[in-house]
Amino acid sequence: MAALTIEVRPLSEAGGAEIAGVDLSRPVDAAAQEAILDAWHAHHMLLFRDQSLDDAAAVRFCRIFGEIQPERQTPSAADRHEPGIHYVANTRKDAILPDGDIWFHSDQIFYDLPAMATSLYCIDAPACGGETRFGNCHLAYESLDEETKRRLEGLKAESSYLYNSPNRLHKVTAERSGNELCATHPVVRTHPVTGRKGLYVNRLMTDFIVGMDRAESDALLERLFDRIEQPQFLWQHKWREGDQVIWDNRSVVHARNTYDHINDRRTLRRIAVKGDMPF
Ligand SMILES: [Fe+2]
Repeated sequence: MAALTIEVRPLSEAGGAEIAGVDLSRPVDAAAQEAILDAWHAHHMLLFRDQSLDDAAAVRFCRIFGEIQPERQTPSAADRHEPGIHYVANTRKDAILPDGDIWFHSDQIFYDLPAMATSLYCIDAPACGGETRFGNCHLAYESLDEETKRRLEGLKAESSYLYNSPNRLHKVTAERSGNELCATHPVVRTHPVTGRKGLYVNRLMTDFIVGMDRAESDALLERLFDRIEQPQFLWQHKWREGDQVIWDNRSVVHARNTYDHINDRRTLRRIAVKGDMPF
């Protein structure tokens, strides 16, 4: 069992922490698990460098945080890999999201029960680009003036996902077929463990505020997206092979920078952790 020599090194003013002194290829003892969870709730995104993790070790790591969320978007994926494991990559035929930038979003917000956490393990890191950026939704909410906070009380927004639609410009101009995945959640979400409130809308997936005039909704959402994406609430992770990262979808949004998907390689193993109904 890993000894409790955990060191927590914050990655930025906005959030994220590197956890040093843990070998995730072996079971982590209860005290270390508790230290990891404490850091998780404080920093929202954790990075473990220089890990060597097979599927089983990555699943065991994710179980520190909760139950594994089986894939829901492409059920056939379950036939190809261990349940709950898939790949974000340009190196495998069975992978998703092989190229391009991806706007800020919160994974699975278009489900009633969105994944609580998303983990990525880096198998191939591109030399240039392909970074994952994070935005702290608690800090963004807390920075709002009291009048805006009152205005947001009780509001709900619908978020949706059109498959193969990597940005909102494409999404809002596309014909809606009525079969899109969509769900309605509070605009301000309360973290069930820490009690902190955070903005739970995002530029990629959130369409409109329920019951509000479209123009008013668009204006308010733009303001909230812009707030979340202010530089002081953001940090960026440059991938290295052997990085195991996990983030809390209740607290942060994330985005991806583009990279040279023709000449470079980017392979990330992704596992999601089940979540509860947002409130
Ligand atoms: Fe994502």
